[in-house]
Amino acid sequence: MGDVDIIIIYGSETGTAQDFAYSLAHRIRYLSLKPMVCSMDSLDLTQLFEVSTVLLISSTTGQGELPRNCKKFYKFLMRRNLPTNFLEHIKFSTCGLGDSSYALYNYAIRKFHARFLQLGALELCNRAECDEQSPEGQEAFYNGWEKLIFEALKKKYSNKIVEIPDSIVLEPEYKIKIDKDAPKVDISEIHSINRSNFDKSLRTVKLSEMSRMTDPAHFQDVIKVVISDESKSLKYQVGDTISLYPENDFKDVQSFINLQGWNDVCDQPLSLECPEHIIPEGGWVKNLTLRSLLQYHLDIMTVPPRSFFQLAWHFASDDREMEKLKELGKIEESEQLYDYVNRPHRSILEVVQEFFSLKIPVEQLLEVIPVIKPRLFSICNLPNPETVEIAVAIVEYKTIIRRIRKGLCTSWLKSLKVNDKIVITVNSNNLKIPKSDMILVGPGTGIAPIRSIIQFNDKLIRDGENGHNYLLFTGHRHKEKDYLFGEEWPTMKGLNVVDSFSRQGGGYVQETIWKHNDQVASILNSGGGLYLCGSSGKMPTQVRLTIEEILKESNKWDEQTAKAALLKMEKEKRYIQETW
Ligand SMILES: Cc1cc2nc3c(=O)[nH]c(=O)nc-3n(C[C@H](O)[C@H](O)[C@H](O)COP(=O)(O)OP(=O)(O)OC[C@H]3O[C@@H](n4cnc5c(N)ncnc54)[C@H](O)[C@@H]3O)c2cc1C
Ligand SMILES: NC(=O)c1ccc[n+]([C@@H]2O[C@H](COP(=O)([O-])OP(=O)(O)OC[C@H]3O[C@@H](n4cnc5c(N)ncnc54)[C@H](OP(=O)(O)O)[C@@H]3O)[C@@H](O)[C@H]2O)c1
Ligand SMILES: Cc1cc2nc3c(=O)[nH]c(=O)nc-3n(C[C@H](O)[C@H](O)[C@H](O)COP(=O)(O)O)c2cc1C
Repeated sequence: MGDVDIIIIYGSETGTAQDFAYSLAHRIRYLSLKPMVCSMDSLDLTQLFEVSTVLLISSTTGQGELPRNCKKFYKFLMRRNLPTNFLEHIKFSTCGLGDSSYALYNYAIRKFHARFLQLGALELCNRAECDEQSPEGQEAFYNGWEKLIFEALKKKYSNKIVEIPDSIVLEPEYKIKIDKDAPKVDISEIHSINRSNFDKSLRTVKLSEMSRMTDPAHFQDVIKVVISDESKSLKYQVGDTISLYPENDFKDVQSFINLQGWNDVCDQPLSLECPEHIIPEGGWVKNLTLRSLLQYHLDIMTVPPRSFFQLAWHFASDDREMEKLKELGKIEESEQLYDYVNRPHRSILEVVQEFFSLKIPVEQLLEVIPVIKPRLFSICNLPNPETVEIAVAIVEYKTIIRRIRKGLCTSWLKSLKVNDKIVITVNSNNLKIPKSDMILVGPGTGIAPIRSIIQFNDKLIRDGENGHNYLLFTGHRHKEKDYLFGEEWPTMKGLNVVDSFSRQGGGYVQETIWKHNDQVASILNSGGGLYLCGSSGKMPTQVRLTIEEILKESNKWDEQTAKAALLKMEKEKRYIQETW
């Protein structure tokens, strides 16, 4: 650690903040400064006394909650016995990732920022909050922050900085070596359930049911997946999620191998070393080869981030291609990057297909291509030790250039068969279901966690315990085509249902909520709660505005009072939003 100049720590639930942290560290290394990156919880706290600059990047999850991998660090910072000059030797800055449709927007990073100030740390430069809802995307906010950080670092470390020309490729953090003389590894010996660094939270389970929930003729395929654990030792609560670890399609992997000219070496054993804190969640698949690294770990189907181009251009041999790739990596050329990759959702594989002279050295693969992130799915059944059920909307859409795109995880899941084994992690979401009557709003697959809330309440009532009355607003397209779990609602105790079938003239959930404003007001004004789940984007904001309007009218409040009441509900965890 001795020679580290800057600590970059992140709190990240689904990997975005982590990506930004690594990209920042990579760029800082070009100033000849030595950054150290890790999640906040994996930071050795004594290291805080060995540096004078700390950069924090964190998303917000749940209802204004901290991501799982920074909670321990926050708890430490909040210790009462820490003196107010505890961090006075530190200059810091913070960058938050959030979604402005949530009332507790960027709450986590604000907490860190406030606490660092309380503990005597000084701001290195202005902080940033990146909004997922903004049309420019979070990266635009992040780029602005990175610029400020660089200006500040150049001042602070003016005696030390020697800018490394961008033509130089830095020493990789991951050490990859192919053993060309060893016998080839048989593909059948490699399976995603066999992993080194097998974290105890990972479990091997079996797919015991995969069934289509929507009408075969309906455009949106939604599948119900039942996962079973033979050891009957699953532990989870209503509101929890599972992580799945998707893999690339064999054909896409082969195309990548062909394009890179790796056919001779792709099945040789490969050794991979890296610092512990950058081992991906879920660990590495055992018996790695270039092929299995590409299949299980490298996200060749994702839209490449700017950091991809910032490094990839070095490896194109054609001058024109090199120039073009270099341009795409420049912050000033954000519009070009947006038009080339983000708008058409171009994948890394497609970029490699188009830039024919781009040959990535094997040693640099993990520096250039991001690792595949696990995908989360809401558990939709009543907790039990043996099974987990999820409802998965298969992602398939046409881009603006009319190409068909498929989601990585959902198309992988769809390719699996009953009895196949996979690894999963069960994640605790700490959902506190309000002990009151509730409004439930669940358009599309947002119905998934709501189903388990309804089943839980139904069981309470059937067991003669204190159940509640729920008013469910469903939001689907056609009653006969995609009314997910619709047949179950009449059998559930304590449940009233109001449907909105959007393609049968029924409008959207916010419209039906408005039509039933008296019932909604009566539940909310008598201390009831609201749980909302589904796609992020316009829906959660529109539902929120509708609820605000109902509170305003029913209580004869002005706008400010209604907004404050809703915020209070949110802080008391009576208004719960889970959108993805
Ligand atoms: C807490 C949580 C719970 C979740 N629960 C569920 C659940 O119960 N069920 C469920 O189905 N999903 C759920 N998700 C979403 C899930 O984790 C995945 O994000 C989703 O399945 C897509 O993964 P994928 O790998 O198939 O798609 P990816 O390869 O990751 O592609 C998804 C991306 O494609 C783009 N995209 C997708 N559709 C379109 C479109 N129509 N037009 C333009 N662009 C588009 C978007 O950029 C999107 O981010 C949940 C997510 C979270 C965070
Ligand atoms: N673009 C993205 O980034 C993104 C994000 C999440 C999900 N998705 C896509 O959505 C699919 C899964 O979604 P899903 O099955 O959960 O259904 P969904 O697409 O969220 O749709 C569910 C219902 O919500 C309605 N709806 C659309 N816009 C709305 C709004 N502003 N307010 C209220 N309701 C609205 C839909 O109506 P209509 O269809 O009739 O308008 C439909 O009846 C995935 O396959 C994925 O492709 C895309
Ligand atoms: C289930 C869920 C809950 C969220 N809650 C909040 C929130 O309360 N406030 C906020 O500003 N953003 C919220 N967000 C948005 C995330 O902060 C945003 O998507 C971020 O980019 C995720 O970064 P990560 O991948 O590093 O976790 C939420 C996102 C999800 C999926």
